[in-house]
Amino acid sequence: MTQLDFLKKKFKKLKPSEVGCFCISFLFILCLFFLDYRSMGQGLRASGHRGLGAWFGLSESSDSGHELVGFLDEGKCNIFDGSWVWDEKYPLYESKDCLLLDGGFRCSENGRLDRFYTKWRWQPKDCNLPRFNAKTMLERLRNRRLVFAGDSIGRNQWESLLCMLSTAVANKSSIYEVNGRPITKHMGFLVFKFIDFNCTIEYYRAPYLVPQGHPPAGSPKQVRTTLKIDKMDWSSGKWKGADVLVLNSGHWWNAEKTTRAGCYFEEGGVVKMNMSIESAYEKSVETLLNWINKEIDTNKTQVMFRGYSPVHFRNGDWKSGGSCHLETLPDLSSSPVSSGAMFYPNIFSSVLSKHGNNSSTQPPKLDLLDVTYMTSKRKDGHASIYYLGPKNGGPAPLRRQDCSHWCLPGVPDTWNELLYAVFLKQEYSRAGNSTIVTATAPSPI
Ligand SMILES: *[C@@H]1O[C@H](CO)[C@@H](O)[C@H](O)[C@H]1NC(C)=O
Ligand SMILES: *[C@@H]1O[C@H](CO)[C@@H](O)[C@H](O)[C@H]1NC(C)=O
Ligand SMILES: *[C@@H]1O[C@H](CO)[C@@H](O)[C@H](O)[C@H]1NC(C)=O
Ligand SMILES: *[C@@H]1O[C@H](CO)[C@@H](O)[C@H](O)[C@H]1NC(C)=O
Ligand SMILES: *[C@@H]1O[C@H](CO)[C@@H](O)[C@H](O)[C@H]1NC(C)=O
Ligand SMILES: *[C@@H]1O[C@H](CO)[C@@H](O)[C@H](O)[C@H]1NC(C)=O
Ligand SMILES: *[C@@H]1O[C@H](CO)[C@@H](O)[C@H](O)[C@H]1NC(C)=O
Repeated sequence: MTQLDFLKKKFKKLKPSEVGCFCISFLFILCLFFLDYRSMGQGLRASGHRGLGAWFGLSESSDSGHELVGFLDEGKCNIFDGSWVWDEKYPLYESKDCLLLDGGFRCSENGRLDRFYTKWRWQPKDCNLPRFNAKTMLERLRNRRLVFAGDSIGRNQWESLLCMLSTAVANKSSIYEVNGRPITKHMGFLVFKFIDFNCTIEYYRAPYLVPQGHPPAGSPKQVRTTLKIDKMDWSSGKWKGADVLVLNSGHWWNAEKTTRAGCYFEEGGVVKMNMSIESAYEKSVETLLNWINKEIDTNKTQVMFRGYSPVHFRNGDWKSGGSCHLETLPDLSSSPVSSGAMFYPNIFSSVLSKHGNNSSTQPPKLDLLDVTYMTSKRKDGHASIYYLGPKNGGPAPLRRQDCSHWCLPGVPDTWNELLYAVFLKQEYSRAGNSTIVTATAPSPI
């Protein structure tokens, strides 16, 4: 069946109201083309970047000295509060030009026809983000390690960053997996090296961040595996020495993946048959925060936690025909996140704030990438049926949609632009201090 046949079939199945909806979306997008968002965005960005450019040698005007861009001002700007704006300059790369990408994220190569979802830029309400500069980031990562640990949404973000960074490298064979492993789905970890910069961008699969394993001897029969919620994942020893560590968890803390699958929670070597998933997740976050405090030298390692990425299944879930394949536009309203999109969205921040309030525990030094709100607006960005390419019999059937992972280029690129901003902010504070000591400006890069 050709793609055209497939689409014809698909459109036959649509109700008239759905076709109307699609047409209205299309007209709306056309209007956006004519409203010149571009000139407005450029004006904003040019004025916002002068200060940072001077510090990081990004612009010609090096005399603007100590002026700060908004996002660097402590407490003045919440970069996670804002809106999506149309920007012709996006996407930052094309999937066909990026070798470092799973087939499952290559939506346009897998038959997705609309490209609108690649054209949105996140605009914080009270400041501007720095434009992502792959060269600057790679220079700053020279001789360093950036590590992602988490679930497959974390892998989605890791692959996005690989593609974003590789745009600055002409010789693509100078980027390689150190153990020669292919990027396609597998269970362990992958370490990509950018040889010209002696830096590695690594991914460790650890969907719970705490380890899953055999239950203790003598456990009840229904206990097939346990999550050891008072220990860190087996691979955590490898995350430790990273210069930047980006963690995430959340999607796997549900009944289907745990208790209903015979996976119970173990604490102090004892299986807690009655522990709720919610309190197990809370305990695991406690474990993580204590680990950061005890084991991580936060002078060396910048730790980030990426917040929950909402899913957008409509009329069902991933195995009961839930869908998102007709979504072509973000939700441009400013309505708050609907609770239906989440499992336990607030656990991480509530445990974090409890931890910080407790006089006997230190608040760990950690940057929260709070992407939940912005991501909740992007029902248009999921892989839907385009996680399978023509070679694998794709697009996938309408009843088997992926409304949790994201097309690339797409939404995770924006998470990485925020990661970049938070990373630069840390670099700036280091450079700022060394400037005070040495009384010279940091060398341009
Ligand atoms: C390359 O980077 C690693 C850290 O990732 C560092 O230990 C090593 O010394 C660096 N090699 C050179 C030649 O600078
Ligand atoms: C590209 O990089 C590879 C690996 O470092 C190297 O062997 C090759 O010579 C490079 N090619 C060019 C044209 O620089
Ligand atoms: C667990 O819950 C069951 C029923 O809800 C109860 O009978 C049992 O005593 C509880 N076990 C423990 C250890 O609390
Ligand atoms: C981290 O840096 C601060 C300030 O330079 C210093 O006082 C502190 O001892 C350092 N901590 C570690 C664990 O090295
Ligand atoms: C922690 O303290 C802050 C201010 O002192 C308070 O607003 C917040 O509710 C507290 N959080 C918890 C979880 O107790
Ligand atoms: C504070 O932390 C200690 C050590 O983790 C814990 O035992 C205690 O229950 C905590 N107190 C509160 C009020 O959460
Ligand atoms: C850098 O300076 C700021 C304030 O001047 C201070 O709060 C911070 O701890 C310093 N950082 C380091 C790594 O010394």
